[in-house]
Amino acid sequence: MLKARSLPKALQGLRLPAVAAPLFIVSCPKLVIAQCKAGIVGSFPALNARDEPGGPVVLEAWLKEITEALDRHNQENPDRPAAPFAVNQIVHRSNERLERDVEICTRWKVPVWITSMGARVEVNEAAHSCGGIALHDVINNTYAKKAVEKGADGLIAVAAGAGGHGGPQSPFALVREIREWFDGPLLLGGAISTGEALLAARVLGADLGYVGSPFVATEEANADRTYKDMMVAGGAEDVLTSSLFTGHPANYLKGSIRKVGLDPDHLPDEWDVSVMPDDSPKPKAWREIWGAGQGIGAIKSVGPAAAVVERLETEYRAAIERLRADIC
Ligand SMILES: Cc1cc2nc3c(=O)[nH]c(=O)nc-3n(C[C@H](O)[C@H](O)[C@H](O)COP(=O)(O)O)c2cc1C
Repeated sequence: MLKARSLPKALQGLRLPAVAAPLFIVSCPKLVIAQCKAGIVGSFPALNARDEPGGPVVLEAWLKEITEALDRHNQENPDRPAAPFAVNQIVHRSNERLERDVEICTRWKVPVWITSMGARVEVNEAAHSCGGIALHDVINNTYAKKAVEKGADGLIAVAAGAGGHGGPQSPFALVREIREWFDGPLLLGGAISTGEALLAARVLGADLGYVGSPFVATEEANADRTYKDMMVAGGAEDVLTSSLFTGHPANYLKGSIRKVGLDPDHLPDEWDVSVMPDDSPKPKAWREIWGAGQGIGAIKSVGPAAAVVERLETEYRAAIERLRADIC
């Protein structure tokens, strides 16, 4: 068991110093439960829980399902309790569901809140009001300072090579600049797909790694089989950074861009109707244009999420032993 006394309780006692990153569309209760049972913090974006008109509140149902499954696991396995789970809130003004989702998460006492796109004092206060902690994701030192000023308990540094809206900065530079003034919980994301990379994140000064892409290629993930297979077959050269699909730079699988009839090596900078062949509509980011980080070369098969955690742990422990033998 990992001992990390300086971390908040929710991040202590994990099997590995890792948090599974929230993945739009892909993260679902089945995946979150598997991640937590395997011993790392599992997470999902609140926006993945989409209501049907006239139907029940899906976020409420998901929180019930996750909470009950983890409680059951803990009663049956008191010596191997599940890690806590996290919910990701997009706190940007454009998120019309934010207030409702925050109220639901507060009522369900969500233990870890991951906030993205613009820090908000009231969301951090809501997390604290139910005993949770708030981790804000940032791509540079300026945003990191703003997030802490607004009451975030910890930071997630999203560095170059991360799947989805990754940042442009080297993890070496980003962690160093944040660690010069911040000694609270710090996570690092971006192509952390191996135990060696996880250990490297800790060497740099991060407390935990933030692992996204490897969980797309799992049995529990809510992703098309072709998407999962592309993650297995691909490497860093198959990942393209483009602002074309959402207006912000994000990392995508080139294969998914080809699949909608576009040439990933000759994309325009801006969208107009002539971009698509045959007047087809603009393809949907994430649903059709699939996100991936540069670390996908380490993904060798589609299997259970627990197997990803198992591999990361084996590699992490072996890397520690190797370094011990090499360096001392
Ligand atoms: C398919 C996909 C969807 C993502 N969706 C979200 C999201 O909804 N909210 C968010 O904060 N980050 C999102 N991210 C970013 C991840 O949370 C995380 O920063 C990233 O996956 C870490 O890099 P890695 O993929 O190289 O491990 C997404 C990433 C991917 C690959």
